[in-house]
Amino acid sequence: MSLAGRELILGVTGSIAAYKAVYLLRELTRLGAAVTVCLTEHARAFVGPLTFRTLSGRPVLTDLFDPQSPDAVEHVALAERAHAVVVAPATANLLAKAAHGIADDFLTTLLLAARGPVVIAPAMDGGMWEHPAVRANVATLRARGVTVLEPDAGALASGLSGRGRFPEVDAVIEALERALVPARDLAGDRVLVTAGPTREPIDPVRYISNRSSGKMGYGLAAAALRRGAEVTLISGPTALTPPPGAVFVPVQTAEEMREAVLQHLPPATIVIKAAAVADYRAKQAAASKIKGKRDLTLELTPNPDILAEVAARRTGAFIVGFAAETHDVAAHARAKLEGKGIDLLVANDVSQRGIGFDAEDNEVLLLDRWGGTRALPRMPKTEVADAILSHIVALRAGAPAKKTHA
Ligand code: PMT
Repeated sequence: MSLAGRELILGVTGSIAAYKAVYLLRELTRLGAAVTVCLTEHARAFVGPLTFRTLSGRPVLTDLFDPQSPDAVEHVALAERAHAVVVAPATANLLAKAAHGIADDFLTTLLLAARGPVVIAPAMDGGMWEHPAVRANVATLRARGVTVLEPDAGALASGLSGRGRFPEVDAVIEALERALVPARDLAGDRVLVTAGPTREPIDPVRYISNRSSGKMGYGLAAAALRRGAEVTLISGPTALTPPPGAVFVPVQTAEEMREAVLQHLPPATIVIKAAAVADYRAKQAAASKIKGKRDLTLELTPNPDILAEVAARRTGAFIVGFAAETHDVAAHARAKLEGKGIDLLVANDVSQRGIGFDAEDNEVLLLDRWGGTRALPRMPKTEVADAILSHIVALRAGAPAKKTHA
């Protein structure tokens, strides 16, 4: 795909890696893109506007935000027209403002005005990148469909080493190209996704649940939307915002999830069950809060197996299940695939740190009912989601599954 003729905005924030934006700009213009650069006040402390002006051949947006100025209106219109906005490098501060919709300078205002895809290439100290506040902001942005690249690992300006380095210029350009031309290979499909945990009440204030955050399922819903599908997202309780454009059905219990799934099943062409449904519920939830400090025996009863029920209905939809395993992943997953009678099973080893439940990344094994197995490396759940959808598209088209091993 060519960037030639694309109207882009390059936002640069106040990081020591700001000089690398110069190399990025040079490459973007070499590829034929028309780039307007917007420097934050702190970015100007690292690299002056003249360099960017010379390379882009355009005035650089640096003026302090003046909402009354006619230029401001014009530049906001420019963001609306731009094919994409890329922020590189992006500081933790920029991520926080973008995640929360704060618009207190030109760049953050442009981000709110942008109609096209947004790609963010963070660069910061490794400790900052791992901070829970930064992780939460990155998760919010990714759930909204923003591409937030993983910084590279290595030596950092602070003298420490870790993950926080500005990604390679090529990686930023590749992400930009992917964001600009999302595959529309699911146009005409109706994708039903389940996500998050279920909550099974014990009494009015307590419940049985699990650590599912919903990130995997919400990532799948957002990716399917980008690829042109109509999406219904049935979700247990999570802290995430449903991707705009999805029909959103919130549920609490496995029984509610079952009802919602069966109700929305008929038109679905692809069903993806990423939810972590509680296997058991209290046989009899107490009507009032259970009191006392005595031993308590809770009688549990199994919940309905929604996935097996969906498969048994044979509606013609392509059915994808997930498997959360802790050992002998491939063997257990293959047994689950066959036991449930589904087309594809996505298995993750939830005993591994940094992947699976409530993690930003995942590393999965794809097993299909034609005997194919494919191992995907560890990557952000947003990218795992796209890889799973590409695999579904290939399997439906009859492409033999690539047999690879981790
Ligand atoms: O939500 P995240 O924090 O992003 O974490 C993602 C995840 C770890 C939850 C996800 O990747 C995952 O593995 N989801 C499935 C978890 C699970 O419940 O696995 P299971 O092996 O217990 O269930 C197998 C399949 O049957 C799943 O598709 C599940 O949705 C389905 N199921 C299970 C029980 C039940 N009663 N009804 C079902 O439909």
